[in-house]
Amino acid sequence: MSKLWGGRFQKSAEEWVDEFGASIGFDQELVMEDLQGSIAHVTMLGNCGILPSEDVETIIDGLQQLKLKAESGKLEYLIENEDIHLNLEKMLIDLIGPVGGKLHTGRSRNDQVATDMHLYLKEQVNEISLLIAAFQKTIIEQAEQHIMTVAPGYTHLQRAQPISFGHHLMTYFWMLQRDKERLADSMKRIDISPLGAGALAGTTFPIDRESSAELLGFTSVYQNSMDAVSDRDFIVEFLSNSSMLMMHLSRFAEEIILWSSQEFQFIELDDSFSTGSSIMPQKKNPDMAELIRGKTGRVYGNLFSLLTTLKGLPLAYNKDMQEDKEGMFDTVHTLKGSLKIFEGLIRTMTVKTEQLTKAVNQDFSNATELADYLAAKGMPFREAHEVTGKLVFLCIQRGHYLVDLPLEEFQKKSRLIEEDVFEILSPVKAVERRNSFGGTGFEQVKKQIEQGKVLL
Ligand code: ARG
Repeated sequence: MSKLWGGRFQKSAEEWVDEFGASIGFDQELVMEDLQGSIAHVTMLGNCGILPSEDVETIIDGLQQLKLKAESGKLEYLIENEDIHLNLEKMLIDLIGPVGGKLHTGRSRNDQVATDMHLYLKEQVNEISLLIAAFQKTIIEQAEQHIMTVAPGYTHLQRAQPISFGHHLMTYFWMLQRDKERLADSMKRIDISPLGAGALAGTTFPIDRESSAELLGFTSVYQNSMDAVSDRDFIVEFLSNSSMLMMHLSRFAEEIILWSSQEFQFIELDDSFSTGSSIMPQKKNPDMAELIRGKTGRVYGNLFSLLTTLKGLPLAYNKDMQEDKEGMFDTVHTLKGSLKIFEGLIRTMTVKTEQLTKAVNQDFSNATELADYLAAKGMPFREAHEVTGKLVFLCIQRGHYLVDLPLEEFQKKSRLIEEDVFEILSPVKAVERRNSFGGTGFEQVKKQIEQGKVLL
C-alpha cells in the first residue's frame, strides 16, 4: 500500500513498525473535527482564489459524503494510513479522484492536528460545563430540602460545631462553581485557530487565516506559526482544571462513602447507585463513589504525563506530541462519566434526618455555645474556654453530655450561668444563631442558595 508521503522512500516499513507509529486507533475520535477543519480550509482556498471553485465544490462534496459515512459509523480506518488525517485524505482521493489531493494545499498535518484538538476541546469543555451545572442544580435541590436539618460539623474528623446539612452540601456547589469558572476562563486559550500555520513557518500561498478561523467559529488566530503548531498549553490547562475538578468530586465521594457507612448512617444511597457483594449477602457498597475517588488518580496521571512529554521538546512539532491525545480523551470521558454518575447518586440518596438529629444531640459540639454565652456575659473568652473545658471534662467523667448537667453544677464553675443556658445548648439554636454572612445560620443558608440559583 503506497503512503501519501511515500515519494522519497525506497522501501516501506514493516507492519509492526507502522503499528507503533500509528495513532488512528485513538485519534479517530477527532473525525468530525478533522472533516470540519478540512471543509473550512478548502472553502478558504476557494475564496482566496488558490483553488478553482469547481475543485472546491468537488472536494467539499466528497468531505460531506465522508461525514455522512462517519456519522453512520461506516468509515474503515487502516493502520497503514497512520492517523485520522491521512486516513481521511486517502478516503477522499479514493472517492473523488486526484483532485482530492488538492485539499492539503497550504496546510500541514501539524496545523491540522492542532486545529482538530482546539475544536474538540472547545466542544467538550462546553459539554462538561453543562454537566457541572446540572450537578450543581441537583446539589441545590438537596440542600434546599435540608436547610433545617441539623448535622454534626467536623474539623480533624472530630465533632466540632453543629451545622445545617444544606450548608455542608452547598460547599460543594461553590467548589464546582469555581471549576466551571476556570473552564470558562480557559476558553480564551482554547478558542484560537492554528490553521494556516503550515508545518511551522506559514505558507507561500496567499491564504486568509482569519477567514478559516471564522468559518470554524474561532474568535482569534495564533500570532506565531511556530507557537501555533507546538502549543499544547491549552491541553495541559484542561488537564489541570480537570484534576482540580476530580479532586473536588473525590472529596465529596469520600464523604458519601463515610456517611453511608454503619458508623455514620447519615445517608442511604439508592439501590440503583449501589452494588452488592458476591459473598456477603448483607452488603450494599458505595462502589460508584469509590470509583470516582479512584478515577481521580488517572486524571492526575494524565496531567503529569503530558507535562512530562512536553518538557524537553524543541520547537516546533515533534512526534512526541501525538502522545497528547489519549490522556485528553480519557480525561474527557472520565469527567463526563463521573459528573453524570455523581448527579444521579446525589439526586436519589436519602438523607437520614432522624439519625443526624440523634448524632448531633449526642456530642459536645455545643461546647462553643457555652463558651460564647459566658463571653457574651463579660467573661474573657480565654477564661470562658477554660471553664467550659472543665465542665466538658466533668460530663465525660460522669458519662453524659452538657445538657444533662444540673444547673447547680454549672453554677459551681461560674455564677454567670443561669437557667437560660439550656436553651443556648440546643444544636438547632446553635445553628440558627450563626447568622454572620456566609455562616451556617438557616437564614444565611437560604440566602446562599438564592445566590447559587442566580449563578446557574
Ligand atoms: N498523528 C499526528 C499527531 O497526532 C499528526 C501530526 C503528524 N505530523 C507529522 N509531521 N508527523 O501528532
